[in-house]
Amino acid sequence: MTLAGKNVVLGVTGSIAAFKAVALASELVRARTLVDVIMTASARQFVAPLSFQAVTHRSIFGDVFAANSELNIEHVELAERADIVVIAPATANTIAKLAAGMADDVLGCTVLATDAPILLAPAMDAHMFDNPATQENVARLRARGWEVVGPAAGRLASGLVGVGRLVEVEELMGAIRALLGRSGDLAGRSVVVTAGGTQEPIDPVRYISNRSSGKMGYAVAEAARDRGAQVTLISTPTALPAPFGVQVVYVNTAEQMLAAVRDAVQEADALIMAAAVADYRPARPSAEKIKKADADVWQLELVKNPDILAQVRGDFVRVGFAAESQHLLENALAKLHAKQLDLIVANDISTPGSGFAVDDNQAVLLDAQGERLALPLMAKRELADQILNKVIKLLGQRRAK
Ligand code: C5P
Repeated sequence: MTLAGKNVVLGVTGSIAAFKAVALASELVRARTLVDVIMTASARQFVAPLSFQAVTHRSIFGDVFAANSELNIEHVELAERADIVVIAPATANTIAKLAAGMADDVLGCTVLATDAPILLAPAMDAHMFDNPATQENVARLRARGWEVVGPAAGRLASGLVGVGRLVEVEELMGAIRALLGRSGDLAGRSVVVTAGGTQEPIDPVRYISNRSSGKMGYAVAEAARDRGAQVTLISTPTALPAPFGVQVVYVNTAEQMLAAVRDAVQEADALIMAAAVADYRPARPSAEKIKKADADVWQLELVKNPDILAQVRGDFVRVGFAAESQHLLENALAKLHAKQLDLIVANDISTPGSGFAVDDNQAVLLDAQGERLALPLMAKRELADQILNKVIKLLGQRRAK
C-alpha cells in the first residue's frame, strides 16, 4: 500500500548478485512502483540491461554519454523524481566511490543530486567487506543518514562461507517499505506487538502449543513499521523471517511473554496482542525426557497461565484478539470488557480461508465505545492496516482527553 505509485531508483553494480536485482525489480513492479534502473558499466558484464528492461518496461540508465536518452539531464531528473534510491547489490568499489562523493557515472551523479533516502545493500567477498577501508566507507555513508541492509552470512561465490551475501529480496522489500514509511502516521510512536503460539514445555523435547503461525502479528508489526512506528515484536519461534527494522524479542512460554511485554510497554503507545497464548501449561515440566511407561493412560496436570492482556495495564492503547469458533461477537465483547481493552479484533476461525496459518483473515473490530467495523475477508497485511487505523484514532482520542 505504501509502495504504489512511488518512484524507486534502483542502482545495480558489478557483483555476481546482480541477477538478484532483477528479482527485486520485478517485486517492486508487482508492488506498483515505478522503477528506474541505473546499471554501472561492470553490472552490465553480469546481467544484460534487457533483463531489467523486460521486467520494468522502462529504459535502463547508466551510459552518461547516451545520445538517445529520453530524459533531459538524466541524473538530475532521476535524482529529483526518486522517492528512494536503492543500491543493490553495492560492490566495495561503488561504496568507496560513493563514500568519496565521486560522480564519474550516472549512479554517482544521481546519488549526489538526490534528496531521497538511500538504501545500500552491500554484496562482496567477506574479506573485502571486513577490510577497514570498506568498513570505514560504509560507516561514512551511515553517518550521512544512509540505511544499510546486510550483507548476510552464507556461502559466497568464492566458495568461502562468510558475511558478504546480498540480503534476500524479501528483506530488501521490507527495508524499502520501512524507509519510505519513516514519516508515516505512526512516526514517533512506539508499538509493541506479540505474535505466534506460546510453547509450554512438558519436558526438554516436548511442549504444548497451538496452530498459530504468527502471520497476523508479523503483519501488524510490519504495517506499523511501514507507517513510521518504532516496533518491538515479541514472538514465539515461527517460520517467519525477522522483519527488517523491527526489534524482535523471542520467547517460548506465556510467562516469558508476560515478562517481555512488561519490559517493552514501558515507553509504548500501543500494545497489540496477536499472540495465541496457551491458557494452561504443564504444572511440573520434567527436567529429563519422560520415558514411555506400560500404562495406557498418562495424565498431565495443567495450571493456568497468567492472562497477559488482563495484567499489563498502563497509559497505552491495548488491543486484543478473539479467535472464536462460535458466538463470535458475544464472546469478543465479553473479552473486551473483561480485559478492559480499547479494541478487540474478533475473527471467526470457522470462516473458510480465514484465521490460523493462512494469509487472509476476516474480522470485526469492536471498540470500547461500542463502535463496530465488520470487515470482509482480506489479506492479513490489509487487516493490520485497518487495525492500525483504529489504533491511531484511539491515540488521537487519548490526546484529546
Ligand atoms: O481469552 P482469550 O485467550 O481468547 O483472549 C485472547 C486475547 O488475549 C489475545 O489478544 C491474546 O493474545 C490475549 N491473551 C493474553 N494472555 C493469555 C491469553 C490470551 O494476553 N493468557
